[in-house]
Amino acid sequence: MRILAIETSCDETAVAIADFSGTKRHPHIRIRANIVSSQVKLHAKFGGVVPNLAKREHQKNLVPILLRALKKSDGEVLKIKKLILRMNKNSFLNTKYEMLNAILEREPELLKRFKKYVVPLRKPNIDAIAVTYGPGLAPALWVGVNFAKALAILWGKPIMPIHHMLGHLYSSVISTKASMNKKSILRAKRNRAHNAKYIIPNTIHFPAIVLLASGGHTELVLMQRYGKYKIIGETLDDAAGEAFDKVARLLGLGYPGGPAIAALAEKIQNAKNKTQNHTAKFKIILPRPMIKSSDYNFSFSGLKTAVLYLLRDHPELAQSVAGKSAVAKEFQKAVTDVLVAKTVRAAKTYRAKTILLGGGVAANKTLRAELSKHLQKELPKTKCQMPEAALTGDNALMIALAAFFEKKKPLIPGAKFSANAHMRLE
Ligand code: KG4
Ligand code: ZN
Repeated sequence: MRILAIETSCDETAVAIADFSGTKRHPHIRIRANIVSSQVKLHAKFGGVVPNLAKREHQKNLVPILLRALKKSDGEVLKIKKLILRMNKNSFLNTKYEMLNAILEREPELLKRFKKYVVPLRKPNIDAIAVTYGPGLAPALWVGVNFAKALAILWGKPIMPIHHMLGHLYSSVISTKASMNKKSILRAKRNRAHNAKYIIPNTIHFPAIVLLASGGHTELVLMQRYGKYKIIGETLDDAAGEAFDKVARLLGLGYPGGPAIAALAEKIQNAKNKTQNHTAKFKIILPRPMIKSSDYNFSFSGLKTAVLYLLRDHPELAQSVAGKSAVAKEFQKAVTDVLVAKTVRAAKTYRAKTILLGGGVAANKTLRAELSKHLQKELPKTKCQMPEAALTGDNALMIALAAFFEKKKPLIPGAKFSANAHMRLE
C-alpha cells in the first residue's frame, strides 16, 4: 500500500510518500519521500504563528512540495499536456473541474497552482491519500484538507483523515539505519527491510504509555492496543512547548522558544562574566508544578509566571548571557522533572511494556536524557521509544505512519468531512 500524506496543521507544509506492507507487528516500510517546508522564519517576526499567514504560505507551498515528493518517489513527474486540451471537450473531465473549483473555492491561490501544475500530471501510483484534519489552526488545517480532497477527486483515490497527535504518537516507531545499533540492524535485515531507508527496529508492546508534548498539547495517553487510547492526564493550561515559547519571549529569545532555550541552557557551563558571579550567589529554583499531585495532569502557566517574577525581582539576570542561561537551564529542568515524574509514575501504575515519546518538545535533549535515565533506574525492563530528531516536529511521514497503523477504513473520493481544530484523541 502506497500512502501519500499531507500535513498543514500549523506552520510546516509537509508531504510524504511511503510504502507499507506486512502486519502492524512486523511491518515493512519504505520511505519514498518526506518533505517538510518550515515557515518558522516568517512567523518569527511576529513572535508566534499567525494563522492566516500560515494559510497563505500553505497555499503557496503545497503544490511545489507535492511535485518534489512525487519526483523523489517516482524519479520523474510526467506531465500530460494533451489532457488539458481534451478537458474542454470531455464532459466527464469538465464535471471534475467543477468539483475542484468548488473544493478549493476558499483557497484561490492554491486552486490556480493546482490547475496549472497538478491537473496536467499523469495519475501517480498511490493507493490512498492521508491528511491531518485536526487538531491545529483551523485556517491552516483547511488548506491541507481541501488540497487532499481535490487530489482524491482528481486521481480517484480514497482519503484518510488522520488525527495530528496520532502522527506524533507513531513518529517513534521508525529509525534510520544511522541511529541503530548492530543488533537492531541485524534484526531489521532478518525482517527483509534492510533496503528501505527507514526501518522498524521495534514494535509497540501493550499496554503502552505515551507522552505527547508539543506546542498545542501535553498529554499522557494510555494505549491499550492500536486504535484504543485514553487520555489519563493533560495540561490544565499551557502546553509544554507553549511554556518554552512564552519563557523564551520573556528572555528576549526568538520563536520557536524550545530550541532557543535548549541552546541557551547549554551555554551556562562556558559562560564567564559578572552575572555568573551573581548567579553563583544564589541558586535559581523554579517550581515543579503539580509534580506531587496524585493525578497525571500538568500545569505550566504558573512556571512561566514564576520566571516572570524572577526576572522582575532580579533584572540583572536578563542582562547577561550567563544570567539568562541559568534561568533557561532551571526552567528546562523544571519542565523535564514534571514530565518525567508523571510519565514514569503512569508507566508503573499501568504496568506499561512500552513508553513512547512524541511531539516537538521530544526534540529536547535534557528531556530525552532524563527520561532514559529514570527509566533505566526505575523500570529497566520497559522499552522506551523516542522519535529521531528529524521526526519530532510536524511532518507528513508521521501522518502516513498513523494511517498505516490505525488502518481506518478510507473514505471514498468526494466524501464529506471537516477539519476540526479542537478534536481530542479518544
Ligand atoms: O509538534 P510541534 O512541532 O508542533 C505542534 O504540533 O505544536 O511542536 C512545536 C513545539 C514548539 O512549542 C517548540 O518550542 C517546541 O515544540 N520545541 C521544543 C524543542 N524543539 C521544539 N521544546 C523544547 N526543546 C526543544 N528542543
Ligand atoms: Zn505537532
